[in-house]
Amino acid sequence: MIIKKRYGLLLLLFALMQFDVHGQQKPAIATAKKISPDLFGIFFEDLSYAADGGLYAELVQNRSFEYSPADNRDWNSLTAWKYQTDGFGYGTISVETAKPIHPNNSHYILLNIDDAGQKGVGLENSGFDGIPVQAGKYYNFSVFLNVLSPQALPVSVSLIDKKGKELGTASFTASQKGWNKYSEKIKVNFDEDSAKLVLLVKSTGKIGIDMVSLFPAETFKGHENGMRADLAQTIAAVKPKFMRFPGGCLVHGDGVANIYRWKNTIGPLEQRVEQRDIWNYHQSVGLGYYEYFRFCEDIGAKPVPVLAAGVSCQNSGGTWKIGSTGQKGIPMEEMGAYIQDILDLIEYANGPVSSTWGAKRAAAGHPAPFNLEYLGIGNEDKITGLFEERFRLIYDAVRKAHPEIRIIGTVGPSPAGDDFENGWKLADLLSVGIVDEHYYEKPEWFLKNTHRYDHYNRLHSKVYIGEYASWGNTLFNAVSEAVYMTNLERNGDVVQMASYAPLIARIGHTSWNPNLIYFNGKQVFPTVNYYVQQQFAVNSGSEYLPAVMSFKDKALTDSIAGASCVRDAATGDIILKIANAGPASLSGTADLSKLGKLSKSAAITVITGDPKATNTIAHPTAIVPKTIPITLKKHWDFTVPAYSLTVVRIKGYRVSKSQ
Ligand code: AHR
Repeated sequence: MIIKKRYGLLLLLFALMQFDVHGQQKPAIATAKKISPDLFGIFFEDLSYAADGGLYAELVQNRSFEYSPADNRDWNSLTAWKYQTDGFGYGTISVETAKPIHPNNSHYILLNIDDAGQKGVGLENSGFDGIPVQAGKYYNFSVFLNVLSPQALPVSVSLIDKKGKELGTASFTASQKGWNKYSEKIKVNFDEDSAKLVLLVKSTGKIGIDMVSLFPAETFKGHENGMRADLAQTIAAVKPKFMRFPGGCLVHGDGVANIYRWKNTIGPLEQRVEQRDIWNYHQSVGLGYYEYFRFCEDIGAKPVPVLAAGVSCQNSGGTWKIGSTGQKGIPMEEMGAYIQDILDLIEYANGPVSSTWGAKRAAAGHPAPFNLEYLGIGNEDKITGLFEERFRLIYDAVRKAHPEIRIIGTVGPSPAGDDFENGWKLADLLSVGIVDEHYYEKPEWFLKNTHRYDHYNRLHSKVYIGEYASWGNTLFNAVSEAVYMTNLERNGDVVQMASYAPLIARIGHTSWNPNLIYFNGKQVFPTVNYYVQQQFAVNSGSEYLPAVMSFKDKALTDSIAGASCVRDAATGDIILKIANAGPASLSGTADLSKLGKLSKSAAITVITGDPKATNTIAHPTAIVPKTIPITLKKHWDFTVPAYSLTVVRIKGYRVSKSQ
């Protein structure tokens, strides 16, 4: 009993030492502080054509004829398609739904060729703003056909340029009754930014056509149904510690029927359930949960799926107003099945191949588990009774069945306000391990709030800053974010994860600005913000070393600058970061004298320039990082330029375990 009392007193003393009278933690003491190993990651949402027409390498738009006015009021099954009778053939074309490939994929084209003319009769697809192809490269074409006439039908598939010149072609004969897949490799002989794909049936007959697909043979890591290589490489080069997917608002959807259901997105492509994208276009879900997990693995990022908390977006039905309550809940009698889907997802990711869902993962080509560790429940939802009732059910069920999974709760769309307060209250009440904070603010907000996490209670939930960005892609925006990020490192014991949002956007189809990476069909344009994110992720540390960095004028620098010193335990390297969002150069000192044995030579990387500059199509490399070697002393007196991020990586020596 006495021992227990003493132990209790010690705990109390310890708590008093750590926290001030308001229960806030006292400022950091001068010892190394552990940083979350998952601090800097990425946020992927299928908005601004991030998936279809973006990372997903499919070049045919509306391949399954499932576009509809529900996606976009100007769209239908023939969007991006044209009936092709250039060779003076004739017949009829119709969109049919009887006897489709699969009930989930109900629309297809029925072609009745009365006269094939000189070239044949068929269909032409214009891709996503045209199909970019390269001379000497191969493209994998496939289609599902159902021959409905007694005779076999000769078919050609070609890529043509704007003037109709053939860039590459293949021919085959469709002979099978019932739906069958035909695949061809097409070699392209000329470069073209805006090709079209033409499928022609060359003799009289009747045929059903669906799932017309064209992929570059060279996808990221060479996967079938893979990712666009240049875009994927640009993302991979960030070296994110985790990737959140598939959103964002996409997750909780526009109404209950639009909630993202992961099970609809796995299995054979022709059997997946396509659906309207909340950002007013269409999700083919060719990039589905299996592909998301595989992509995370390919880029060395932990998967962080986020699932709806049983409620739809509060802005459902077009009510895009702060505080609007378009939020709808999955009927309570259906919540059991919904929760089972969530538990099944964990089994799909981590279960043995002998389990029902682990077997499906293995059948898709991945017998090894995907090592799911984190699971987000809810996305910036309005914290209502409707939400809370469903969140609790999901939370309890996941905790009970999978205590090893780290659940991420949600605290609204803003860094303060009712949903933020109420979300945190609920998280405290339920002891949710991590909560997801979101904020899109002016750069000045980031500079004013650098101490936001210094006083967070370390005994409460950890924080995942699931979405954040300053409003813009200028150098000033990017360095303001950098200043803020040095403070995230200092608070890397309470900020578990952070991801800039959104990640990628197709030029001409942006539903949201700014983004980290822009692209068109052919090129990828990393923003200045991208290079800042990359510097922090590539140079992340496992512990924060206080009292190493100091500015000459502390009072002046606090509101415009930030500096951090971290050690990466894996390499022993020391990394210094100095971010200056102010209009003048700044000086200070890095005291490396107590950091043990370090190499004198280091690499210094600087991002700087005109604060208003952005990387654009015309000037894609206006601001990029520049790295040079430097020699350092134990006391390094630095001067960094105005509007800059400076990162110094010093080769260290790994401390062996026995030391
Ligand atoms: O990142 C864009 C959107 O911003 C996300 O979908 C949503 O969660 C947030 O409001």
